[in-house]
Amino acid sequence: MKKLLSIVAAGALLLGLAGCASSGDSGDSAGGDGPKAVGDLVVGFAQVGAESGWRTANTKDIQDSFEEAGIELKFSDAQQKQENQIKAIRSYIQQGVDYIAFSPVVETGWDAVLNEAKAAGIPVILTDRAVDSKDTSLYVSFLGSDFIEEGKKAGQWVLDQYKDSTEPVNIVQLEGTTGAAPAIDRAEGFAEVIADNENLKVVASQTGDFTRAGGKQVMEAMLKSQPDIDLVYAHNDDMGLGAIEAIEAAGLVPGKDIKIVTVDAVHDGMQALADGKINFIVECSPLLGAQLVDIIKTLNDGGTVEPRIITEETTFTQEQAIEALPDRKY
Ligand code: AHR
Repeated sequence: MKKLLSIVAAGALLLGLAGCASSGDSGDSAGGDGPKAVGDLVVGFAQVGAESGWRTANTKDIQDSFEEAGIELKFSDAQQKQENQIKAIRSYIQQGVDYIAFSPVVETGWDAVLNEAKAAGIPVILTDRAVDSKDTSLYVSFLGSDFIEEGKKAGQWVLDQYKDSTEPVNIVQLEGTTGAAPAIDRAEGFAEVIADNENLKVVASQTGDFTRAGGKQVMEAMLKSQPDIDLVYAHNDDMGLGAIEAIEAAGLVPGKDIKIVTVDAVHDGMQALADGKINFIVECSPLLGAQLVDIIKTLNDGGTVEPRIITEETTFTQEQAIEALPDRKY
């Protein structure tokens, strides 16, 4: 009898230790207390800002999805400042939310605050943008687009468009926010593909911070400093739309005198493509809310999720934009 009791006690101890290990790791499952009722969950979301049509659509989709799921969402807008996002994340940690999700404004500088979330046992989900950290245990999953692939798709269109050209093609690039994953990766993917044709040259490249006003301002300056621009590659629709204003103000015809390629496919961009002012758009979907809710429900149930979930996306020509516009959700 004594022997039996000691076997049972040893088994209980082992189970206890196993329990500690799973609640103290990177947070890839629900905390030690087991699943909560979905209606009791609280999630903190630290958004980048409201810099573009894409971001507005992304915010709305996330807020709608959480409301529909009956999960409380604490939402903050960092106005494109990393320090504001860090403050928001710290405040979510202090409030003891169940999960934190955020779209990092820039790639670097997150390790300290993410370690604080980890120490507090709060799982973090990256949405839309990645962080550049060696420690992948600091977040459970990264849900969002493959920005390098988006840059490659834009580059491929340019490569095809000018395949027969024997003259130099002068390209200007309107970059997204300096240090942001989509700005870095879209430039990289594009450069890699256009390198196949030595006539294709990026003659100027400057940040417009993903805003319409920024795109307009940078384009105005480029039209003055670059005598012969053939094509604008804008890292998002908003900067492309700003560039259209600058090109028209300079007495030129966007889409004809200067071709324009952008990324996002939000409503205003698609309308400009349908109108022939933009020539090609690579889609970047802002509709991440439902997938984020699914991730949180899975984790809450004690399940595991993929460390990288890539959003499915397409591209649009003028004809495709005309066809897609009536049903476009954003
Ligand atoms: O991170 C996604 C990018 O951020 C979108 O392409 C851009 O419009 C936004 O501001």
